[in-house]
Amino acid sequence: MSTDTESVKVWDPFVRVFHWSLITLFGIAWWSGENHDMERHKQAGYAIFALVVFRVFWGFAGSRTARFAQFLKGPGAIMAYLKTHDGERPSDGHNPLGGWSVVALLSVILVITLAGLFAVDVDGIESGPLADWVSFDTGRIASEWHESVFKAALAVIGLHILAIGYYQVLNAHNLIGSMITGRRERAKGEAVEDVKWSPVMALIGIAGVGALTWAVMSGFKFG
Ligand code: HEM
Ligand code: HEM
Repeated sequence: MSTDTESVKVWDPFVRVFHWSLITLFGIAWWSGENHDMERHKQAGYAIFALVVFRVFWGFAGSRTARFAQFLKGPGAIMAYLKTHDGERPSDGHNPLGGWSVVALLSVILVITLAGLFAVDVDGIESGPLADWVSFDTGRIASEWHESVFKAALAVIGLHILAIGYYQVLNAHNLIGSMITGRRERAKGEAVEDVKWSPVMALIGIAGVGALTWAVMSGFKFG
């Protein structure tokens, strides 16, 4: 149960740390990619890979509001939300529309990262750690995907920031504050419990993602 009856815990610490680290690292990857600082670019890229893979795992094993099954709703629920949503009551986690934006954000970032792992630049000097496993031409295609999906990601992120701004300003829901503190205001008479998460699942996720990221960084060459 919540200790504070006016507010309820809506986001677990992993979702929050994931979010703010992702923004920081995305900025570093963008800046270093444009400036061809490949050392830093790859480090930021690996960290983003680890974060996003952990978030996907957490979407199945995390707290109530982190789970895909909880926030991915069909078209009926989305239409009902759009028709009846009065802006009064904050959602218990992502709303039916926002849920799909999470999938869009995670997908574009995962595709950029996966493409980056196989990418090769024009003269073959810079490459991702898995580029040796594919031909030069395939590496170039990965590179093109890396760049074009990056541009698509900027559009998706732009929409994301506009949507958050809309809720924040016009609906007066402090979504940004909730993503920082993990808490949101409880609507009048709302019986909802704090989110809970399993430390065992978190440890399994961290260990698994750590091992996978290490294997990826070493190009799956363990000799
Ligand atoms: C979300 C994460 C990432 C973002 C936002 C990102 C973004 C970028 C950008 C903006 C460029 C410059 C493209 C250009 O103008 O030439 C670039 C190039 C590159 N990135 Fe990433 N990147 C990410 C992850 C990764 C990862 C994980 C790797 C591999 C470890 C990687 C490897 C490369 C390589 C090898 C290039 C040079 C390719 C070329 O010039 O065609 N990137 N990236
Ligand atoms: C300053 C800019 C940003 C602000 C203020 C912001 C704010 C937020 C807020 C408030 C949420 C929770 C939405 C809800 O209540 O349903 C959220 C979710 C999310 N944001 Fe952002 N965001 C920003 C930039 C970004 C960027 C740059 C990325 C990607 C690189 C991103 C990726 C995500 C993802 C994946 C989620 C889903 C969180 C989860 O369930 O794990 N955001 N953002």
